[in-house]
Amino acid sequence: SRKRQVDETLAPFKLSQEQLQLVKATMRAGLEAGLKNKGPSAVKMLPSYVYHTPDGTEHGKYLALDLGGTNFRAMLVKFKKGLQNNTRLYHKIYTVPLEIMQGTGEELFDHLAQYVSDFLDYMGMKKAHLPAGFTFSFPCEQTAIDTGILVSWTKGFKATDCEGHDVVNLLREAIKRRNYDLDIVAVVNDTVGTMMSCAYEDPQCEVGLIAGTGSNACYMEELKNIEKIRQKKQKTEGDEETPETSRMCINTEWGGLGDDGSLDDIITPFDAEVDHNSVNPGKQRFEKLTSGMYLGEIVREVLLDLTRGGLLFRGRVCGAVSRRAAELCGAGMAAVVDKIRENRGLDHLNVTVGVDGALYKLHPHFSGILQETTRVLAPQCNVTFLPSEEGSGKGAALITAVARQKTHCYL
Ligand code: BG6
Ligand code: GLC
Repeated sequence: SRKRQVDETLAPFKLSQEQLQLVKATMRAGLEAGLKNKGPSAVKMLPSYVYHTPDGTEHGKYLALDLGGTNFRAMLVKFKKGLQNNTRLYHKIYTVPLEIMQGTGEELFDHLAQYVSDFLDYMGMKKAHLPAGFTFSFPCEQTAIDTGILVSWTKGFKATDCEGHDVVNLLREAIKRRNYDLDIVAVVNDTVGTMMSCAYEDPQCEVGLIAGTGSNACYMEELKNIEKIRQKKQKTEGDEETPETSRMCINTEWGGLGDDGSLDDIITPFDAEVDHNSVNPGKQRFEKLTSGMYLGEIVREVLLDLTRGGLLFRGRVCGAVSRRAAELCGAGMAAVVDKIRENRGLDHLNVTVGVDGALYKLHPHFSGILQETTRVLAPQCNVTFLPSEEGSGKGAALITAVARQKTHCYL
């Protein structure tokens, strides 16, 4: 029957418990490999130079700039000491046109500088010289809180002459070309910004998750497990560690899981087609199974196939594709929280995950399936998902505040 044929087409999207356990184990191995200092790995595990979540002493006014997916946001954030309530004074969203995302790097950063200038003019703040935090939602190799070398574009961006360059410098130079000045204090991944922003409300928040255009997570890792940081630290300071600097937030860039072939067993011909047609074939294989930018494309490939087979769309396709995405994110999250639990030698861990992204916030079933899968695959962890309220900009502002107040905490 037709129904049977549709079911057969969709069968490879249904993952068994064993397969999900295997994805969890693959993710765990990816996290461990990325922490080693052995050259490029599929899961990049990028140090963020953020050593702790907010403690409520953050205060002052900051500018937050946020390049996420298709939007650029500028925000003015004000924190009051001791009060966990901040005031977002103003916020403006600019849409980055596709031709700018895929043009030259100079054009892209000139555009960003123009948006910032517009925002500052509008607020009458060009001369205020507020410290700024820059959320840049792409993989950056950091050596300090205020430098970030773009490793590779993801999510459909492909502006030229940016990979291998410090994005903070690119923005500073573009700002100079427009003849104004900006003090960029921190560059932050959106996962890290989201974690910080949620941790401001809930001190148990030590993980950040984005399920949106892209898919990614960050978490607080023990410094002693981060080989590249440990080696660098030993060279300069000897073995000493203060409690203040015993952990660091790691941007996992888990979207790259599978780029070494480790997920080939679950990748369907439809996924292979979506990857093949993307701007970065062979890259971000896990992201292409789990994030908003690609789910629609997978559904389209399945529908094309069913149409070719003379089968009508029977309503089931979208559910199968998004269920798999949520289950895979859950398997990834189970690996992250179990790692934190084992790091601390605990039988049981209570942890909060700060979450953002359109897929999580707008899809009717994604969050429920994610939560259930995480619960089943990490039974020794009690995981609370806390949706971020203000986006990652507030988190970037918090990091800026900490960087300004406690410079000694940063290597
Ligand atoms: C926002 C962050 O809140 O969430 C962005 O501030 C981030 O930086 C985004 O990229 C994820 O959302 P999206 O648009 O990909 O669903
Ligand atoms: C992509 C980016 C990553 C970001 C994620 C969510 O995976 O590489 O840096 O966090 O999208 O926006």
